[in-house]
Amino acid sequence: MSDSIRVPVSLPLSTRQCFGLGAPPPQAFPFNGGRTQYYYLARNAIWHGADSLGLKPGDEVLMPGYHHGVELQSLIAKGMKVRCYRVDQQMQIDLDDLRAKLRPETRALYITHYLGFPQPVTALKRIADEAGIPLIEDCALSLYSSSPEGPLGSTGDFSVFCLYKSIPVPQGGALSLNRADLPLPPPPKEPDRLSTTAYILNGLLDSLLLSRVPGGEALSHGLRSMARAAKHASGSTVVPIDTEEFDVSAMDLGTREIARRIVRYTDPARTVATRRANYARMGERLDPAVRRVLPPLPEGACPLSFPIFVKDKVATEQALRREGVGTINMWSRHHPDSPEGSFQDVDYLRKHVLELPIHQGLRFEHVDFVAAKASALARW
Ligand SMILES: Cc1ncc(COP(=O)(O)O)c(C=O)c1O
Repeated sequence: MSDSIRVPVSLPLSTRQCFGLGAPPPQAFPFNGGRTQYYYLARNAIWHGADSLGLKPGDEVLMPGYHHGVELQSLIAKGMKVRCYRVDQQMQIDLDDLRAKLRPETRALYITHYLGFPQPVTALKRIADEAGIPLIEDCALSLYSSSPEGPLGSTGDFSVFCLYKSIPVPQGGALSLNRADLPLPPPPKEPDRLSTTAYILNGLLDSLLLSRVPGGEALSHGLRSMARAAKHASGSTVVPIDTEEFDVSAMDLGTREIARRIVRYTDPARTVATRRANYARMGERLDPAVRRVLPPLPEGACPLSFPIFVKDKVATEQALRREGVGTINMWSRHHPDSPEGSFQDVDYLRKHVLELPIHQGLRFEHVDFVAAKASALARW
C-alpha cells in the first residue's frame, strides 16, 4: 500500500477489539452456537470441510465459473475434479446452466455469495437435495450477511467464511458444520506469533490513519515505514493472508486466541449497519457515469465493498491510489480449470470489476472522498 493512501481497503482495529475491553456484544451466525471451527484461512476450512463430507479423490464438484481460484485449488489439491457453471454479470448464479451441468457423477454443489449479496439458497438447496448431493456455501465474501431465508451460510451442509476480509483479525477463516452427523475435523495448530503481531500492528495503524487524532495520518505512515524497515532488516517472514498462492503446508493452521477475541469483540449489528449506510451513501454520491455492478442492496445483506465496472482496471486502480484511495482489483486471473472463454459474462467481470471501500472503519467523510475521486477517475 502506498504511504500516501488516505482511505485503505484494509480494516482498522480498535483497542477495544484488540484488548477485549468492556462487555462483548451479542454474536451472530456462525459464532452464536452451532459447530464452528476456526482456521488461518478460508481455504483450510474448505479443505477440512470436504473431509467431513467424505468427499474423495476423483469426486466431481460443481462450482461457479466466477471464483477467486484458491477455493477451486483447495479441492483440486485433494484430488477432486471441478466442473463450472455460469454466473451472470450481476454475479448471480444461472440456475438453468447449473441444472444442465449436474450429472450422475457430481458429488457436491458449491455456491458462492458474492460481496454479501445472497444467492437463492432455498432453490439451490432444493436442487442439491433432488440430486442427492450436499450443498457447500462459500461465504468468504459474505460474513454477517442475511437474506429473508436466514443468515448466509446456514443452509448448506457446511459453509466457509473468510474473516479477515470483513473484520480486523490478523488471520482467520471459519468452517460451520450445519449437519449434526458431520464429524468435526481434528483441532488445528496454532500459528506463529510474529505473523499475528505484524497483522495486528497493521490494523492498529489503519485505525490511527482513519482517526480524527491530529497528525494521526502522518504518524501512521511513519510508524508503518519503521515497522516495514524493521521487518526487512530482521529478514523475518510472515505466513500471508489474502494471497492467491496455495500452500498445502498451511492447511492445518488455525488461529491464535487474539484473533478469536477480536471476533468476540466485533459487533455484528453495528458492522452490518455501518457497511449498509456507507454502501447507500456511496451509491448516492457517485456520479451516474460510474457504472454499478450490483442491483440495490437487498434487505439483510452486509456488503463487502462497492463494485464498479471500469474500462481499464489497472490504470484506474493506479489513478485512484495516487489520489489516496485504495481499491481491490477483483479476480482478474483465470484458473486453468476454467480458462478465459469458458463464460463470456465471467470474462467481463474479470476484466472490468474494481471494488471501492465502504467498510465499517470509514465515516461518511471518507466515503464522500472516495466517491468524489471515483466520480472523476472511474467514469465508464
Ligand atoms: C470466494 C472465495 N472463497 C474462498 C476464498 C479463500 O479465502 P482465504 O484467502 O481466506 O483462503 C476466497 C479468497 O479470496 C474467496 O474469494
